[in-house]
This record gives sequence, structure tokens and C-alpha cells, in this order.
Amino acid sequence: MSSDTVNPGRRRFLTAATSAVGVAGVVGVAVPFVGSWNPSAKAEAAGAPVKFDIGKIEAGQMTVVEWRGKPVYVLRRTEAQIADLERLDGELKDPESEISDQPVYAAGRERAIRPEIMVFVGLCTHLGCAPKFRPEVGAADLGGDNWLGGFFCPCHGSKFDLAGRVYSGVPASTNLVVPPYSFEDELTLVIGVDEEVS
Ligand code: FES
Repeated sequence: MSSDTVNPGRRRFLTAATSAVGVAGVVGVAVPFVGSWNPSAKAEAAGAPVKFDIGKIEAGQMTVVEWRGKPVYVLRRTEAQIADLERLDGELKDPESEISDQPVYAAGRERAIRPEIMVFVGLCTHLGCAPKFRPEVGAADLGGDNWLGGFFCPCHGSKFDLAGRVYSGVPASTNLVVPPYSFEDELTLVIGVDEEVS
């Protein structure tokens, strides 16, 4: 268990680890990589769904869950973070997520089944690097007052907001990919089973 507190000036976000198994450090802020309840390595390789207890994530935190060998970022957004999404529409390439062929719940501004829970594949849509979680509002190296928290790809500088929407003027051309997912119950996220067919 580890924690890393980031002081954005306007708000404070806590990034803390939940139980971590496997690869850590996919992103820059202390974010765990959780193996979760994988049935077996063989089943996982075949695409078995992965379940994750979202009760482990506090508001403002992000966790990485492995699914099909990919890092899936699971972020619990605060009410302020959700409200801020609208302010960024004019700075984004695809603010309504109309370009990419993704689950229906990946469309729109929030790109999520539940607004507070953001789920997406943690691979940059430019050339596949792992974007870093940069939740601190006003980060000087990411635009100062215009930066409301999001993700920064260290490879070529692409930037994404807290809904995985890509900024204009960066190499990546599409929003981060939302995988099929659903909720088995109030606290159980199932990655790999689509909301529409579960
Ligand atoms: S791989 Fe992310 S900007 Fe190039």
C-alpha cells in the first residue's frame, strides 16, 4: 500500500494504491496495476472478463487493471472533475466522441456508464505508449490554468482530459479507447462484458 498526494492548488487529489499485483508504474503517479480476480492466465489470454471492486477506489484516484494483457485505467472522478469536462469542449478534437467506433456509452462528453467511474484502455491512440495520470489542476508544464487534470503521454506529448478525450494540436487523433464493460452490482465492475449484452 502506498499513497501519493498531489496538491493542484485548487483541489487536492489523492492517488493511492489499492492492492497491487503485477506490473506497477504504468503511469507516473502512484498507480497500482491490479491483477484482480483473473480466472487463470490461460483464460485471460483468451479474453476472459476481469472483475474489479470499485469500492477500492476513492474519489480522484485511479487504478490500473489488467485485461487481455492491456492496462485498463479505472478512475473515480469527483463531481468537480465531471463538471469541468464541459469547459474543455472547445479544446478537443472529438469532444462528443463521434469519431471512434466504441461502445455506445463511450460517446458524449462523460464517456461512461456511471459518470463517476471512467474506464478506458491506458494506451495512447498515437503509437501506444502509456499516458501518465496528471490530475493536478493548473499543472504548469501542461498548460497552467487551462489544465483541469487529465492524462499526458510522455512519448510525443499527446494530452487527454479526464474522459480520455484527446486535445487538439497533439499527435494522437482519437480519444482513448473505452473497452466493453458493465457492472455486476453496485461495486463490481466487469471489464470485457458489454453493458448491452450482460
Ligand atoms: S505514443 Fe502517445 S503521443 Fe505518441
